[in-house]
Amino acid sequence: MENRNRQVLLKRRPTGAPTTSDFEIAEAPLPDAGEGEVLVRGIYLSLDPYMRGRISGARSYAKPVEVGAVMEGRVVGEVMRSRNPGFREGDFVLGGYGWQLYSAVPGTGLLKLDPAEAPLSTALGVLGMPGLTAYVGLSEIGRPQRGETVVVSAASGAVGGAGARVVGIAGGADKCRYVEAEFGFDACIDHRAADLGAALDRACPNGIDVYWENVGGAVQQAVFPRLNDFGRMVMCGMVAEYNDLEPRPGPNLMSAVRKRLKIQGFIVSDQWQRFAEYRAMAAPLLKSGELKYREDIVDGLDRAPEAFIGLLQGRNFGKLVVRLADDPTRGARA
Ligand SMILES: NC(=O)c1ccc[n+]([C@@H]2O[C@H](COP(=O)([O-])OP(=O)(O)OC[C@H]3O[C@@H](n4cnc5c(N)ncnc54)[C@H](OP(=O)(O)O)[C@@H]3O)[C@@H](O)[C@H]2O)c1
Repeated sequence: MENRNRQVLLKRRPTGAPTTSDFEIAEAPLPDAGEGEVLVRGIYLSLDPYMRGRISGARSYAKPVEVGAVMEGRVVGEVMRSRNPGFREGDFVLGGYGWQLYSAVPGTGLLKLDPAEAPLSTALGVLGMPGLTAYVGLSEIGRPQRGETVVVSAASGAVGGAGARVVGIAGGADKCRYVEAEFGFDACIDHRAADLGAALDRACPNGIDVYWENVGGAVQQAVFPRLNDFGRMVMCGMVAEYNDLEPRPGPNLMSAVRKRLKIQGFIVSDQWQRFAEYRAMAAPLLKSGELKYREDIVDGLDRAPEAFIGLLQGRNFGKLVVRLADDPTRGARA
């Protein structure tokens, strides 16, 4: 174990697209585990689009990261020291905190992970928050019925790739090929190619019943007029607009009346009570290979700012994770 911590701090709030100079890499003393806490050595750090909201000063559903503070993020790691009876040195856990190598966190927020059940990193993606997001959004809001057409934007990403039978939209031919071949989507459309509208018409000849909104922007403009009567828009996120300085004008909502659309936003953190249920359902499917996922693993804490900036431009291909340290369980799984 190193005797110093290494952290990425928010240096200033970005204007528009973040740059690496909005972040600062700093050394700090190792944190101490207080009563009831454990010291976690991070192995994998999750990078997610929601972090763009946390580093802006705008009012949102969660508190922002303060300037000068460690960047917020979920971490899978190994317990190095425990002052909580529920955890022992050497346990693997989900629930370390922040863009840093070590964190001392209360045992109450930790989930113990079994590396024989699934690779540790999946607790940040397909078996973690993004997987739960896909599960609750589809089962509670989208509710696709037999014969309906579902369109998913950012289909190759962490939330988009959770395995329904649908039409995907993704950035570039490689991602589209992958979404069709590996995730088994009926079709996938490249949103960077010319005439997205015509491509949607070809892929969805009966219109669109459920639209899983991950990106907003030009993709939303093309999808919205193609929604069928009683269509559902699952408002998960609008990553294409997160760096905007001014909100863009939205679609005209009179068609929501005319077509009796349901447009519903949701935040996965309101649904944590379903996390255990989701993992119990998804872990066996992952093991049997029925549930597919893809990760994009970047090595080293210092590369987190650059990787996060790329996430907001579509440079990641799969769930974006930073490897903070060697994973001692790799290759050791059943
Ligand atoms: N509501 C919730 O509780 C909740 C929870 C988790 C995530 N989310 C939201 O879900 C969405 C997807 O998140 P994720 O974690 O799964 O990330 P992700 O899809 O793995 O990565 C983001 C993807 O967004 C796409 N993108 C970025 N900029 C774009 C642009 N200008 N135009 C079109 N596409 C662009 C890129 O894919 P392409 O290259 O394919 O375009 C990029 O790979 C985000 O909006 C996020 O905020 C919401």
